[in-house]
Amino acid sequence: MRCLLITGAAGFIGSHTSLVLLNAGYKLFLLDNFSNSSPIALERVGRLSNLSNEKVKERMTIVNGDIRDFSLLENIFLSAEKNGEKIISVFHFAGLKAVGESFEKAFDYWDNNVGGTIALLKAMEKYSCRSIVFSSSATVYGTKNNKALIETDPISPINPYGLTKATIEKMLANIAGCHSTRVAKQTSPRGWRIACLRYFNPAGAHPSGEIGENPKDIPNNLFPLINQVAIEKKESITIFGQDWPTPDGTGIRDYVHVMDIAEGHKAALDTLISSNPQLLIINLGSGEGTSVLDLIKIFKLSIGIDIPYRFGPRRNGDTAISLANPGEALKFIKWKAKRNIEEICRDSWNWQHQNPMGYK
Ligand code: NAD
Ligand code: WQD
Repeated sequence: MRCLLITGAAGFIGSHTSLVLLNAGYKLFLLDNFSNSSPIALERVGRLSNLSNEKVKERMTIVNGDIRDFSLLENIFLSAEKNGEKIISVFHFAGLKAVGESFEKAFDYWDNNVGGTIALLKAMEKYSCRSIVFSSSATVYGTKNNKALIETDPISPINPYGLTKATIEKMLANIAGCHSTRVAKQTSPRGWRIACLRYFNPAGAHPSGEIGENPKDIPNNLFPLINQVAIEKKESITIFGQDWPTPDGTGIRDYVHVMDIAEGHKAALDTLISSNPQLLIINLGSGEGTSVLDLIKIFKLSIGIDIPYRFGPRRNGDTAISLANPGEALKFIKWKAKRNIEEICRDSWNWQHQNPMGYK
């Protein structure tokens, strides 16, 4: 049986991707320390899959632990080997991801994100697993951009979180024997199969409303905040700036449905395992921009709920526009986003109103 190790599997993107990979016939080792997630997400992934309860037990091994724990990682690879199985690839979602927090807890971000990835890569090398799909971020491009971003654009992150992602990309390129993180596709002379997927703004939820985004702390991102206003946990949204150089003066982002992101991971794996060793660095975005004011209007049209807002000052570190050029994703992994912004609004709301307390 073909096995995969998924780190950060219970998180927002990990849970949706685990579902796609389970339905694609893989056996999964699901590793999470649940620092920002709940084991209930993984129970629901099993239930949502097209497998019987018995098959779910056979195909999902949940491990509660930390990616920095090398002996735990060894045990996972060894337990596959003991069954005569092999982990053919790793999907690496585990990490800390809050931009603001990364300034206050920079050491934790370097330790968790970079330190954790080093432990993981060492274990992979020891057990001859040389394939990894890594969760990178559009944050690596920095803020000096007002056009659709392409993989060859300069890398200039402006916060510790983004710096950890850019550093991991560089480390992966180095391990693969490649020279640049500004090329979408390079051959790996060292026999590694690696995809760094730069997500833009993942949002939405599985259409069942059973799994979705479950921030443990007070959310900072627009989608969870809009949903909290819709569910009357919060009174209004503060729009950060009304004088950006955009048609309506508010920030434009490339929101991409989390199920599209999940399918992008499978597309990346399919490409990696069917090609010669290579390093891929790919934007996962829809290529469509939506401003904050547009989003509030679309939410009202799709869900029927008004989102009260007021304008506040610009947020530090924000940019006017963050938009993907998704051309290389189509070319190299044959992926493009299929779901539109209305579906993102509908599915994120569906999740929120079915689970007002998240997984609690
Ligand atoms: P998330 O916080 O929901 O998921 C991350 C998961 O990793 C959580 O379940 C958490 O408990 C786990 N985790 C954290 N540190 C761990 C450790 N040391 N050992 C084991 N488990 C650990 O985040 P997400 O939104 O699903 O993001 C997944 C990945 O994608 C992250 O690496 C994030 O940086 C990246 N990313 C996210 C976004 C976004 O907007 N959601 C955008 C770009 C990139
Ligand atoms: C979207 C737009 C805000 C909140 C973040 C990370 C990025 C990546 C994805 C991980 C912007 C505006 C927001 C609010 C507002 N994550 N806004 N009022 O900043 O594009 O990206 O998530 O890799 O690294 O930075 O997303 O949802 O915070 O903001 O007006 O209360 O909404 O100014 O224009 P962002 P966001």
